[in-house]
Amino acid sequence: MTRNMLSRAVLLAGIPLFLAGCEVGPKDITQTGHRGTGMVQLADKSRIPPPDRMPGETYRDIVLDPNDLGPPAGEFYENIQVLNDLSTEEFNRLMIAITEWVSPEQGCNYCHNPENMASDEVYTKVVARKMLQMNRAINVNWAGHVKQTGVTCYTCHRGQPVPAYYWTTDPSATARMGILGNRRGQNNPDKPSAVYSSLPYDPFTAYLKERDPTERNIRVAGTTAYPVAGAQGATLANTEMTYGFMMHFSDSLGVNCTFCHNTHSFSDWSGSTVQRETSWYGIRMVRDSNENYITPLTSVFPANRLGAAGDPFKINCTTCHQGKNKPLGGMSMIGDFPELARIPPPPAPTTAALPAQPAG
Ligand code: HEC
Ligand code: HEC
Ligand code: HEC
Ligand code: HEC
Repeated sequence: MTRNMLSRAVLLAGIPLFLAGCEVGPKDITQTGHRGTGMVQLADKSRIPPPDRMPGETYRDIVLDPNDLGPPAGEFYENIQVLNDLSTEEFNRLMIAITEWVSPEQGCNYCHNPENMASDEVYTKVVARKMLQMNRAINVNWAGHVKQTGVTCYTCHRGQPVPAYYWTTDPSATARMGILGNRRGQNNPDKPSAVYSSLPYDPFTAYLKERDPTERNIRVAGTTAYPVAGAQGATLANTEMTYGFMMHFSDSLGVNCTFCHNTHSFSDWSGSTVQRETSWYGIRMVRDSNENYITPLTSVFPANRLGAAGDPFKINCTTCHQGKNKPLGGMSMIGDFPELARIPPPPAPTTAALPAQPAG
């Protein structure tokens, strides 16, 4: 063997080692747009997430007799503020279902004082009441996102009182320059929220906390060749924030950027997929849920349920999606629980509540 051959052999032997850094395994490739536009979904077969665990279904054994649903729950029970439109039988079945979805190990007493079911002394009951309202609002007001699939408590909770995925404001992202320098809320690739990139790791406070974030616009692409006063466009910092947020989208749904965008122009809606539109509603739905249902509960939560900045655990795309383009692989439970997909008008005052007519 000449020296030349030897060095070639060494070089060839080194190739597999070198390529081991690339993901070589089998891929699933799905074309989602016209040929040549790069509109494909690439998935590493070894990383396709397993099907989700579905809840125990004790409640499925409960068959309600439509002719014998009992009196309205709002009249039969003492302290019903949200589920007034249910019959007693429907109400009892829903209590069993939410126990299965949220606290299967802890049982009814996770939310109730068993001595007095009507009492609101356990904070989780107060939270659960707001959650019932939020769940209904998501299914009714945000059907543009959740479609007929809808959500139940299980979509987020998956059989545990605290959902596996939530976010709170990260105070380090806005910390002032310290002696060790300042990462300015980025350049910290050990943060899962930035999908281990160097992009900003708290895009949630900027984009998902409130309904009308005044400070930042997600859209950052310029519409003119040169900066023009008043034209759309953004600073570098704002653009990085958008990219950080987009990493979260891809990660939480388990998809590539091309699931929503044609990358020849990220901003162009006509070249984007319908999923980008669905996401547009999703962003507004999450803001509504956080601002109007979770943040108002701040004083109800105990200290161990608040983040470092004193705010409660809030929702982002992963809270429901958990790595799937449709939560739970598109499996729906809402068909069995139409009461979670309607918002009844506020109950009319009953005659009993009206002041008695003065006699004569
Ligand atoms: C995740 C929290 C949660 C769990 C678990 C739970 N409940 Fe409830 N329960 C509530 C909420 C919230 C209300 C009030 C609903 C409203 O205001 O519309 C309520 C109300 C009730 C009431 C009406 C009490 C009254 O007189 O006002 C009964 C009865 C009841 N639950 C029974 C049960 C039973 C039985 C279980 C277990 C199978 C259970 N609950 C599990 C949250 C929960
Ligand atoms: C869109 C996601 C989502 C849905 C749907 C949802 N929840 Fe929650 N829930 C959360 C988040 C986020 C929290 C905050 C966790 C925390 O700090 O306790 C939470 C907290 C709670 C808590 C307090 C738990 C604790 O130990 O502090 C209860 C009880 C609860 N939810 C009940 C329900 C019920 C009942 C439903 C269905 C009617 C429901 N949730 C639907 C996201 C959701
Ligand atoms: C699940 C859908 C979805 C995925 C996946 C996604 N995006 Fe987006 N993207 C959107 C939506 C929706 C908007 C517009 C948000 C708005 O206007 O409120 C947007 C906006 C943007 C913008 C700003 C466009 C403008 O008008 O200035 C850029 C840049 C962008 N995305 C890049 C990316 C990159 C890079 C990836 C992959 C890491 C990605 N997106 C993945 C849905 C998605
Ligand atoms: C409250 C739970 C929930 C949250 C939070 C949520 N989604 Fe969804 N999303 C759903 C459900 C349910 C569907 C399935 C709708 C259907 O059957 O088409 C869905 C569908 C989608 C789809 C369409 C998928 C497809 O294959 O057509 C996209 C894209 C999407 N969501 C993006 C997002 C983004 C981005 C966010 C965060 C800004 C988000 N979602 C937050 C519940 C949620």
